Amino acid sequence: MLELMAWLENSALAEVLRGLGIWTYGLLNLTHIIGIATLFGAILVLDLRLIGLWRRLALDDLVKPTVMLSAIGFTLAILSGVMMFSFNATEYHGNPFFYIKIPVILVGVINIVVIQRTATWKRAVNGEPETGNDSLKLKFIGASSLLIWLTVLTCGRMIGYW
Ligand code: HEM
Repeated sequence: MLELMAWLENSALAEVLRGLGIWTYGLLNLTHIIGIATLFGAILVLDLRLIGLWRRLALDDLVKPTVMLSAIGFTLAILSGVMMFSFNATEYHGNPFFYIKIPVILVGVINIVVIQRTATWKRAVNGEPETGNDSLKLKFIGASSLLIWLTVLTCGRMIGYW
C-alpha cells in the first residue's frame, strides 16, 4: 500500500497539481465538498423516501433526478478526492479512516449496481404496483444505502483528525 501511495505522490499528476499554486488544494477541497453535498443530498432524499417518508411522492418521478444528481456528485467527489490524495498520499499511510473509507465507497458502488438489477427496484422505478414484500425490501435498500454513505462521510471527515 505504501508503495502505491508513494507512486501516486511522485506521479506526473501530483507534480503538476503541486506546481499549480497555493490555491489548488483548497479549490480541490471545495470541489470535493460540492461533490459530496450533491451526492449525499440527492441520496438522502431518495433513501428517506424508500424508507417510507413522503409516500405520496411517486418513486418513479423521484428516482431519475436523484440518481442523476448523485452520479454527478459522485464523479466530482472521486476526481477531486484522488487529486487531493495525490498531493501527499503517503501521509495517509496507516490512517484507519482512510482504509475504511475507500472499501466502503466500493461497497456503495456495488450496492447500487446490485440494487438496480433486482425485480423490486425495477418495479418501483417503472411505477408498477408492489408485490410480496417489496415495501420491506425497499426500506432495507434505503437504510443500507444511508448507512454506507454516512460511513463514507464520517470516515472522510475523520481522516484529518487521526
Ligand atoms: C463519494 C465518495 C467520497 C465521499 C463521500 C468523501 C467524503 C469526504 C469528506 C466528508 C471529507 C472531509 C472534507 C472536509 O472536511 O474538508 C473528505 C476529505 C478527503 N477525501 Fe474524500 N470522499 C469521497 C471520495 C474520496 C476518494 C475516492 C478519495 C481518494 C482516493 C478521497 C480523498 C480525500 C482526501 C485526501 C480528503 C482530505 C482528508 C484530510 O486530510 O483531511 N475522497 N472526503
